[in-house]
Amino acid sequence: MQFLEYRLTGKTVSFFFKILNQLSIIMENTQKKGTVKFFNGKQIPLEMHKVRIVQSLKLVPVDRRLEAVKEAGFNSFLLGTKDIYLDMLTDSGTNAMSDQQISKMFVADDAYAGSQSFVKFQKSIADVFGKDMILPVHQGRAAENIISQTFVKKGSVIPMNYHFTTTLAHIQLNGGKVVELYTPEAMKIKSNHPFKGNIDIKRLEELIISAGPENVPFIRMEASTNLIGGQPYSMENYKNVRKVADKYNLIIVLDASLIGENAYFIKLREAEYKDKSIGYIIKEMCSLSDIVYFSARKVTSSRGGGICTNSKDLFNKMKDLVPLYEGFLTYGGISIREIEAMTVGLYETLDEDVVGQSPSFINYAVIELDKLGIPVIMPGGALGCHVDAKQFLSHIPQEEYPAGALVAAFYIISGIRGMERGTISSIRDENGNDILADLELMRLAFPRRVFTLSQVEYLIDRLNWLYHNRELVGGLKFVEEPPVLRFFMGRLDAVSPWPEKLVAKFKADFGDSL
Ligand code: F0G
Repeated sequence: MQFLEYRLTGKTVSFFFKILNQLSIIMENTQKKGTVKFFNGKQIPLEMHKVRIVQSLKLVPVDRRLEAVKEAGFNSFLLGTKDIYLDMLTDSGTNAMSDQQISKMFVADDAYAGSQSFVKFQKSIADVFGKDMILPVHQGRAAENIISQTFVKKGSVIPMNYHFTTTLAHIQLNGGKVVELYTPEAMKIKSNHPFKGNIDIKRLEELIISAGPENVPFIRMEASTNLIGGQPYSMENYKNVRKVADKYNLIIVLDASLIGENAYFIKLREAEYKDKSIGYIIKEMCSLSDIVYFSARKVTSSRGGGICTNSKDLFNKMKDLVPLYEGFLTYGGISIREIEAMTVGLYETLDEDVVGQSPSFINYAVIELDKLGIPVIMPGGALGCHVDAKQFLSHIPQEEYPAGALVAAFYIISGIRGMERGTISSIRDENGNDILADLELMRLAFPRRVFTLSQVEYLIDRLNWLYHNRELVGGLKFVEEPPVLRFFMGRLDAVSPWPEKLVAKFKADFGDSL
């Protein structure tokens, strides 16, 4: 007894409680969730929440939608929400918050320095990601700025499973080169491969050898690879990345913006993890990473971001840039209220119903669309339903931006705002030619807990109509093109009067229906 008392002091006690704490998180989430079977045999996802705060929506007439898309330069980023019915542009900052998140925002400890809300946030990062040190930043790309400025220099080569737009821009800005090492499966629109976000391990090692490990500041892995249809990577793949990193003494940076969904897919699709909790899987993914950064606009259904690590050395290398670009180290340019919401949101990420809601609706949509012959990325991934514009509008050359045209046409005929994820979101080469995107996608984002299944049915119905009338849709051309991240603010125009023809057919088929 005396021995036990002696042992349970100081560091040992805190270690003991840490383990207990971790165990309780894991136990809470290993209780297997039941699935609901319907008497009528239908396979439909069932929401595990109810809606208590609502925002009214309006569907403006098709003539107004035509006007609106022209005013917006055929760029969905430039549409105003007053003209939008279902806003499926993104899940960034638009996921529905929980009552728990909103209530905590009222008890936030507003302080420039030393806020106790930040202390709670630190604890949530340790509990959920298993990282002791956290640098708060205002959003994901701010983390990318700090990481790139710290580690990337001219001549650096950064291998990754796939890039994200802002990641690429920050790495290039610092003189680095991104090399994507996705597997051939990643580019197949329809596939039954469960992990199209995997990195090619053999090519990873070859690249490190050919570039020289000293020129590889880090390997970047993106959970639920955004630009290739929200496709996850497997834990097995990630463990192999770790082995390669260890062999060449390299660090791994994990973009955890969509880690909850990736963990959900690992549980669903990787046999070894079927009985593990989301919390367990997230922790394991983070334990394989040296630096974990995230857009809290996605992962925690709030706003903000962060960079976390267990390495004092890595932390110290980055930390001075936070007060310079973001704000003091206990608020990082984020409102303290959002820090409270992030903290609660991070714990809620451990709930399978929370991280599985959007993927299960996406899965429902892609299966129904596929039955109608509409080309969508399969299997369904995270974030949204991705329609393959190359097949949908196969008569439009890539130089005339089929994905952009599809987004504009779909908005006109439905009031639904999607996002172009194709050549408009790409860049030009040094000769001014478009670098044609690997995939031409219209992304219809499914922010968590925002839309109902009847709204998803409307999406399916309108997309089906457009598919039957796809020959009417024509291409786009730039009229104003910013040099960096052109997809945000660039303006385009139709190459022919196809939008008017599309509206005429819509009216002929639907009469006075909105
Ligand atoms: N990494 C990934 C994987 C992302 O999806 C995003 C943002 C970022 C980094 C940047 O984070 O927006 O907070 O600065 N994705 C949003 C989207 C913009 O719509 O997919 P951010």
